[in-house]
Order: sequence, then structure tokens, then C-alpha cells
Amino acid sequence: MKRRLIRDALAYGASDQEITVAGWVRTRRDSKAGLSFIELNDGSCQANLQILAPATLANYESEVIRLHPGASIKVKGRIQVSPAAGQAVELLAEELTVLGFCDPLQYPLGKSRISFERLREVAHLRARTNTFGAVTRVRNALAFATHRFFQERDFYYFNAPIITSSDCEGAGQMFQVTTLNLDKPPRNKETGAVDFSQDFFSRPTYLTVSGQLEAETHACALGNVYTFGPTFRAENSNTTRHLAEFWMIEPEMAFADLSDNADLAEDFLRSLLRQLLERCPDDLKFFDQRIEKGLLDTLTRLSTAEFTRITYTEAIELLEKAPVSFEFKPYWGADLQSEHERYLAEKLFHGPVIVMNYPKEIKAFYMRLNDDGKTVAAMDVLLPTVGEIIGGSQREDRLDVLEARIREIGMQPEDYWWYCDLRRFGSVPHAGFGLGFERMVRFCTGMGNIRDVIPFPRTPQNADF
Ligand code: 4AD
Ligand code: MG
Repeated sequence: MKRRLIRDALAYGASDQEITVAGWVRTRRDSKAGLSFIELNDGSCQANLQILAPATLANYESEVIRLHPGASIKVKGRIQVSPAAGQAVELLAEELTVLGFCDPLQYPLGKSRISFERLREVAHLRARTNTFGAVTRVRNALAFATHRFFQERDFYYFNAPIITSSDCEGAGQMFQVTTLNLDKPPRNKETGAVDFSQDFFSRPTYLTVSGQLEAETHACALGNVYTFGPTFRAENSNTTRHLAEFWMIEPEMAFADLSDNADLAEDFLRSLLRQLLERCPDDLKFFDQRIEKGLLDTLTRLSTAEFTRITYTEAIELLEKAPVSFEFKPYWGADLQSEHERYLAEKLFHGPVIVMNYPKEIKAFYMRLNDDGKTVAAMDVLLPTVGEIIGGSQREDRLDVLEARIREIGMQPEDYWWYCDLRRFGSVPHAGFGLGFERMVRFCTGMGNIRDVIPFPRTPQNADF
């Protein structure tokens, strides 16, 4: 079927050329003069195309007047200037084919407004709404912008494994992958423990929490790489910013330190915003009007903003002096809570903040120990409203320091033998970070809940669809 996208039909405007469009009916109303007005959407843009279906159509009585929201149709006709207000052009139908009727009594997306909570229960249909169509297009534009940013800077796209035997973050939040019969798993005769040597991979395996450790192997061979893939965390967080399955972008650079890393993070975020503003002006306007007032201004301002850089120690001092009462009292050694991050980005600095050099105890084992012996070369990038959007670090490149740190947290360097090899054979300073893709989509759309910026959210007690 040769069809023209509604976006293009609207952009080309009136013409004598006959075209075909296809999509889903948003509304239909009939005039007294024996004419149906159909608002048609095909997902190519926010706007609908108004279809004028005259009573002279062969199937007018038998089919056209039975069209309800959700029905799918194909229409052949010409685009003409619309005499009525509301739209510049409309399509005068010469032939209208019904592809699929839609029963208004059963279709969950009628005309009335439906809450985002309810729409999550019909996530297989919600992409047909204005909001979720726009979210999908913004998500797509940000993914494209990500590849473009890194490709233009000579980073290689690298695919980390999804199933892994190493816990990158050491936080014990991994989903186990097994084919053992859970009713009757094989057991070690002496200890009674489950015998994973009989499992599919002959050892316990998990869904990855991060592709970083594997990305480091390729950065330490090819220079600069980036991943863009799904990651999984079995953390029992029921919040508006946590998912059990989310997508992460993880660049990793050889011959780079923490400040190079922060530079890259800043450039990346600004570039994503600039590309998005250019690619999706209509969708962003929609979010600005319907979801978060002032969103367009914020995105535009941040697309050229310098980020504030402070140390963790400075951040704690500022938080201790803050004239607000936090639920969690900040003190040196404690991790920053979402309320602290938002205070820094929203109230204090009115823009993105990069916090650097955290206490080693609250960060992962692979981060480079600073000369003070207490902090590591870590960085978190904080944004207004969403808080932490990026976590990263310079990596520990000294074998002895890394091995000592692995032992310190009760793990064995042998379990990370291949990771330690990178420090054994031609070690180089290197650094990288991870950006939570859904947190970025959420920030750019103003959507209140992260579950509404991924097609099928996975959260505790929910893996529908
Ligand atoms: O700070 P995190 O845990 O860092 C890492 O995983 C590093 N290995 C990254 C690296 O250095 N290559 O996660 C990185 C980002 C966070 O800043 C956050 O944006 C996002 O991933 N994130 C989540 N997004 C949605 N749901 C969750 N449960 C998330 N956990 C982390
Ligand atoms: Mg983090």
C-alpha cells in the first residue's frame, strides 16, 4: 500500500495530486448536509488530518457512518484548503476503505479523558493517544540523537551481554537466570545448597545491571565505545523514577580522567536537548501546554547551559546549611537522597549540577581511589525535577589498589580475573558513565512517572504484556 504520512500531507499542503493516507479514526461527526468529518491520525505527528467524507461515497451509508474512534481506514483523495477554522487543509475523500471497525462499547479509548494509571492497564493501546504518541516520538528522537552524538565523535557502538555472571554495581540487585526446575533443584549432597553446576551455564547467572565492565574491555582496546541497551535491577523501589528494566547509555573512554568524563556528560546532555528541540518541536509544544508548563523554556535554557561542578564534601556543607528540613538529615558519609539532589539542582543552582568525589564506602568497587584515601573519582549529574540522571567515574586503573578494594568489600579478585587483566596488561587511565534513558525521556517530556515513558514498564509486582 503506497501511502503518504499525514505529517507530510499536512506539510505539502493543498495540491491537485491524488494521495492515499491511512490511519486510525480519532473522532467522526456528521453534518446535516450529508457529510462526515473524520479526524484521522497515523502516528506520524501530533496533528490529525481532517477527512471530508461526502455522502456520495459508495459505502457512505453502509460503512462510513458506522466509523467510531479506533477504527482503521484508508482514504484516497486530494488535499484542499479548508474553508473552516481549525485546520489549514483537509482531505476530500474520493474513496474510503474501512480496514477494521471498532466497537465503541468495548474500545477503552473513547473520547473522554483517561488517567495515566488506567492507560497503563491498556498499555497495548495507549500509543494511540496524543500523549503516548508524543512520548514514543520523543523517545525515538533521543535514541537517534544518542547514536548521532557518539558516532560523530568516533565512539564505537558496543553491545554488552545481557546475561552475565558478574555483578557490576556489587549491590546485589540482580535477577537470576536459570533453567533449573525450581520445584526440585539439584542439590549438593553434603551442603544441601542448590547445585548450579547443573544449571544451563554451569554456574549462577543474572540479567546485567550495567554493561560497564564489559565496555571497559573494548575501551581498553579501541579507545572510545558506548553501549545502549537494556539493564535490569531487582530493587524493590516503587517510585516515579525507578524501573526494574530500563535502558542505559554507557560511554567509556580510554586515556580520560574524571574531568574529561564530566565534559563528555555535559556535551552529551546539551546535544540531546538541542537535537530534540530541532526534531520534535510540535511534540514538545504539546508537553509544554498539557503536561508541564514552562518545559520548553527549561529545555531551551539547558541546551546551552554550563553545569555547576561541586565536590560531594561541598554538597554536604551546602545541604547542612540549607534552610529546609529534609526527611533524611545530610551528613558526610551518607548517600545523597533524591530530596537532596533536587534541592541542589532546583533550589540552589537552578540547573544541572555535577557532584564529584564521593566517599568510597557509598560507591562501587571499580571507582578510582583519590589521593585522600577516603573519596573516589565518582560523579553524579543531577537535573531539576528528576534528580540523578547520570552516574559515572574514573575507573581504578592500578591493579594492587583494585584488588585490595575488591577484597575490602568481601569479594574475590579471582572472580573478576578478566577485569583485573585490563590492569595487568597495558593499563590506561579511563572513565565513563551511565545515563538512564527513561529518566532522560521523562525529563524531556515532563511526564510525572517513569512508567509512562517506556512502552511496557516492569516494576515490582508488574510485568503485564
Ligand atoms: O548510577 P548507576 O547505578 O551507574 C552504573 O550503573 C554505572 N555502571 C554506569 C557507568 O559508569 N557506566 O546507573 C546509571 C544511571 C543512573 O544515573 C540513573 O539515571 C539510571 O542509570 N538508573 C535507573 N533508571 C531507571 N530505573 C532504575 N532502577 C535505575 N537505576 C539507575
Ligand atoms: Mg547512581
